Amino acid sequence: MTRTRKYSITTTLTFMTLMLAVSVNSQDENEAVVVSPEIAAAYSEIAVGYERLKPVFTAGCFDCHSDQTDYPWYHALPVIKGWMDEHVAEARDELDFSPGFPFGGHHNKRQADNLYKIKHELEEGAMPLKSYRFMHWGAAPNDEEKDSIYAWVDRSLIHLASHGQYPFNKPENVPGAK
Ligand code: HEC
Repeated sequence: MTRTRKYSITTTLTFMTLMLAVSVNSQDENEAVVVSPEIAAAYSEIAVGYERLKPVFTAGCFDCHSDQTDYPWYHALPVIKGWMDEHVAEARDELDFSPGFPFGGHHNKRQADNLYKIKHELEEGAMPLKSYRFMHWGAAPNDEEKDSIYAWVDRSLIHLASHGQYPFNKPENVPGAK
């Protein structure tokens, strides 16, 4: 066996092991997530509600959680640019509004997780990110807008639960659950 051949077998094996590790990992992340026809139909209905609320999300969230970032002028400053770009990449990895509903990001396999998180982050006052608010990047929704979002999230979570999809697979995360 030539040196190159040995080397390439090792490389192939390493690569296969890595791929296996990656696929096992992503199975963990989205454990047993099935988008049944009922869930798909529920998603279409939830999308209608989302379209109504979209202006609020556009104003408050799209700068970081979409491919439509409207950068402020200070993004041109070298250090600031790197800091902001990193945050946008991180934010979109978590939750990406770009495709509309169903949303992108790493909870894309179970939208109940996204909906639950959106309400949770708004209730906590965590989003838009505190570290940016002093720079007025991303307009926080007002109380009335938040209430409309919460109502849509609650309705959607109850709807999805009726087809067996729960936020983070936990029925107790559904509003009104005992
Ligand atoms: C200025 C940038 C910025 C804006 C604007 C922003 N976010 Fe985020 N968001 C982030 C970043 C960065 C993360 C990932 C790090 C973190 O969780 O703090 C994140 C994470 C999240 C998460 C996942 C949190 C978790 O712990 O899993 C949700 C949900 C979220 N944002 C919702 C929203 C919503 C809803 C809005 C609009 C009202 C919004 N964000 C506006 C930057 C932003």
